Amino acid sequence: MIVIAKEIQTAAYLFASILFILSLGSLSSQESAKRGVFYGIIGMAIAIIATVFGQGVAGQTYIIVAIAIASVIGLMLARKVEMTSMPQLVAILHSFVGLAAVLVGFGSYMDPHTQTIEGAAHSIHLVEVFIGIFIGAITFTGSIIAWGKLEGKVRSKALVYPGRHAVNIILLVACIVLGVLFAQQEGTAGLPYLYIMTGISSFIGIMLVMAIGGGDMPVVVSMLNSYSGWAASAAGFMLGNDLLIVTGALVGSSGAILSIHMCHAMNRSFVSVILGGFGNGPVGVAKAIEGEVTSLNHEEVAALLKEAKSIVIVPGYGMAVAKAQYPIYDMVQTLQKAGKKVRFAIHPVAGRLPGHMNVLLAEANVPYDIVLEMDEINEDMPTTDVVMVIGANDVVNPSAQDDPASSIYGMPVIEVWKAEKVIIMKRSMSAGYSGEDNPLFYKPNSEMLYGDAKMSVEKLLTFLK
Ligand code: TAP
Repeated sequence: MIVIAKEIQTAAYLFASILFILSLGSLSSQESAKRGVFYGIIGMAIAIIATVFGQGVAGQTYIIVAIAIASVIGLMLARKVEMTSMPQLVAILHSFVGLAAVLVGFGSYMDPHTQTIEGAAHSIHLVEVFIGIFIGAITFTGSIIAWGKLEGKVRSKALVYPGRHAVNIILLVACIVLGVLFAQQEGTAGLPYLYIMTGISSFIGIMLVMAIGGGDMPVVVSMLNSYSGWAASAAGFMLGNDLLIVTGALVGSSGAILSIHMCHAMNRSFVSVILGGFGNGPVGVAKAIEGEVTSLNHEEVAALLKEAKSIVIVPGYGMAVAKAQYPIYDMVQTLQKAGKKVRFAIHPVAGRLPGHMNVLLAEANVPYDIVLEMDEINEDMPTTDVVMVIGANDVVNPSAQDDPASSIYGMPVIEVWKAEKVIIMKRSMSAGYSGEDNPLFYKPNSEMLYGDAKMSVEKLLTFLK
C-alpha cells in the first residue's frame, strides 16, 4: 500500500481546510451554493485520502472496503430522501458523529499506545477522552430523539416535569465528580467511571431534546449540528488529527452561529434552548378559542381572488409535502396577468429546513423580487385583500402573540388575520408541528379551503383561467 509522507499529509490537510472554509463561505448565497457543495466534496475526498494513506494506518484494505460500502448506502439514501425528510436525515447523521466520538473516546482510552503517555500530556489526554465521550453521547441520543420528533415517531410536544432542571444539574455535577475520579485512575482502571458517565450523558441528551417543543425544533437541529462539530473536534484531539480538529471547530461554530440566528428569528433565548427550554415554559391555562369555523369551495375562492387587487401567499410545510410550488407559480402568473399584485410572505422557520420555502419557490422559478420576508410584509397585511395560507399553520398562529399558555408564545408570526380575507388551504383542522390549535381558523374573516394543496391550487386555476 502507498504511504504518504507526513509533510504531504500536512499540506493536504491545510488545503482541505481551505476548501472547507471556501465551501462554508459559498453556501451563504443561493447563486454560489452549488459551488460550495463542490468545494466540500473535493475537500472531504482529499481529507479521506490523506488520512487513510497516512503513516501508521493499518488495515487500509478494510477501511477502503468499509468506505465503499458506506458510500453506496449514503448515495442510495440521499437519492431516495424527499426534500421534506431532509432534517430527519441531517439529525440521524449528527447522531452518527456523536456515536463516532464515543467510540473513538473508548478506543483511544484503551489503546496501549496512549497508556505510555506520561505527565501533563497524560492528564490532557484523559480530559479529551472524558469530554469527547460526554459531548458525543449527548449528541448521539439527542439527535436520535430529534430524528424521532421530526419523523413523527416521538411526540413533538415538550415533555416537561417539575424539577427537571434540578435533575439535569444533579446529573451534570455527577458527571464532573466521575470525571475527577476517572482522571485519578491508572491504566484502564477508569473504565467503570467512563461507562457510568456515558449512561448519564446519554440520558441528559434524551431529556434535553424531549423538553423542547415542536415549534423550537429548528433551533435544536442547528444546535445538534453544532454539538456534532464539537464532538468531531474532540475526536480530533484524541486522535491527534489536526484536520478533524479544524473541521469540527468549523461545523461547531457555524452551527452555533446558525442557532443564534434562529433563536433571534424566533424570539427565543439561546441559553434557554440549549439548556432544554430553561425558564421558557408556557404560563397559565390555554385561552379558550372563540368563533366558528367556516369553509368555502374552490369556485367561491376563485371568485374572491378575481375581485382582489392585492394578494399575499403564505406557504408552509404542507406546500412542500404536496409539491404545490409549480401550480402555485402558474396561478400567480395567471393572477398577475389579470393585473393583481401578488407576493409571497416567508416565515424564517416555515417548513422543516432553514430557507425551505425559498428553495422550493426558486425551484419553481418564482422571481426573488416577489418573495418577501415576514418583517417586510407584516406591515402590508392591513391593506391586503386576500391572504392564501397554503399548507402553513404554526407560522400564522395568533396564539404566538396573545396566549402566554401556548408553547409558541413569543415567536414572531405572519399577521395574516389583519388582512381583509384569509383563505386557509389544508386537508383538515389538524394542528401544526408544535401541536398547538390555531385560533386563526375561527376568526370571522377566515375561510377554510379543504384538500391537498396541489390539487386545490390546480382546481382554482381551472376556475381562474
Ligand atoms: P406546520 O405548522 O407544520 O403546519 C403544516 C400544515 O400543513 C399542517 O397543519 C397540515 O395540515 C398541512 N398539510 C400537510 N400536508 C398537506 C398537504 N398535502 N396539503 C395541504 N396541507 C397540508 O408548518 P409551518 O406553518 O410551515 O410551520 C413550520 C413548523 O415546523 C414550525 O413549528 C417550526 O418551528 C417547525 N420546524 C421548522 C424547521 C425549520 S428550520 N423550518 C425545522 C423543524 C421544525 P393538514 O394535516 O390538515 O393538511
